[in-house]
Amino acid sequence: MAKITYRHPNGTETVVDVPVPNTVMRGAKINNIDGIEAQCGGSAQCGTCHVYIDEANALPLPAMHESEDDVLYGTAAPRRATSRLSCQLPVSEEIDGLVVHLPETQS
Ligand code: FES
Repeated sequence: MAKITYRHPNGTETVVDVPVPNTVMRGAKINNIDGIEAQCGGSAQCGTCHVYIDEANALPLPAMHESEDDVLYGTAAPRRATSRLSCQLPVSEEIDGLVVHLPETQS
């Protein structure tokens, strides 16, 4: 289990305990958190699970694969240095406390 905070564009946040194994995208979907569409179901093709990792993050996240990097160039909201596809972020105890910001739009 890992606690993940999803910050909404309006400044509110939703904090949930996500079971392991999972992804940050699935953590949002199983908790009915608005702002993650995940149209491709987690195969790094649609870009509608785009999140911004909190700038203060010091938790270990996996390196970005080339396919994720490519998809992030086509997201609806602007890409930033902190952009990731939440379907490519596995949930583990190591990322307990992760904070992600949801973009204004996913499509
Ligand atoms: Fe489609 Fe993540 S769910 S890219």
